Amino acid sequence: MKEIRIAPSILSADFACLARAVTEVVEAGADWIHVDVMDGHFVPNLTFGMPIVATLRRITRLPLDVHLMIEAPERYLEAFARAGADRLIVHVEACPHLHRVIQGIRGLGLRAGVALNPATPLSALEEILPDVDQVLIMTVNPGFGGQAFIERMLEKVRRARRMIDAIGRPIELEVDGGVGPENAPALVEAGATVLVAGASIFDAPEGPAEALRRLREAIQRVHAG
Ligand code: DX5
Ligand code: ZN
Repeated sequence: MKEIRIAPSILSADFACLARAVTEVVEAGADWIHVDVMDGHFVPNLTFGMPIVATLRRITRLPLDVHLMIEAPERYLEAFARAGADRLIVHVEACPHLHRVIQGIRGLGLRAGVALNPATPLSALEEILPDVDQVLIMTVNPGFGGQAFIERMLEKVRRARRMIDAIGRPIELEVDGGVGPENAPALVEAGATVLVAGASIFDAPEGPAEALRRLREAIQRVHAG
C-alpha cells in the first residue's frame, strides 16, 4: 500500500499568524508544506517568494514543496534552494527547455517535479517522466485557492498513475486544487500519493488541525478497505 502524504497549502493560511498556522498543521500530522509561488504573469495572481520559504524553513523541518507558478523559473532555482526548499515543481507550460530546468533542480540536490495545467495533455510528460521525482496534476486552473475541483481531472490522475507505473520508479503523484475529504478518497483510489489542500484545511470552520485529521481519516477508510 502506498503511503499517502498530505501537503497543506499555506496560500489560505492567515499570514499574520503564519508560524502558528504552520505549527498547527505540523502538529496535526501534515507530511509536507506546500508553498505556492505566483508571479502575476504565468498566473493572474501574485503571492510570495524566497523570503517566505526562508521563514517557513525556520518554522518547520517538514519538506517544503515549492510550486513555482512563474515564467522562466530557471532564474530562481538556486535562490529557492538557498532559501530552504526541498522540492521544486515547475510547470511544463512555463519551460520550453524543461529537461534543462529539471537537471538544474536535481543538480542543486533537490527533488524535481513537473506540473500540468488542466488543459495540458499528459502526453507532455512522455519524454521527461524518467527524469522527475514528482508529477503534479492541477485539478483547478492555477492562480487562486478555494476554487472548485474539476471533476474530469480524476480520470487524468488515473491515466497519470498508469504512466508512472509503467516507468517503474517511485514518482510521487500529487493533486492540487479543490481537494478535500469529499474527493480525496476517489483521488487516492485513482493513484494520487500527495494531496495538496488549502481552503479545505485553513478555511475550515473546525480549524486546520481538525480539518487535517478529517482528511486523513477520509483517506484511511479507502486504504483500509
Ligand atoms: C492553486 C495553487 C494551490 C492552491 C490550492 O493555484 O496551486 O496549491 O493553494 O488551494 P485549494 O486547496 O484551496 O484549492
Ligand atoms: Zn499549488
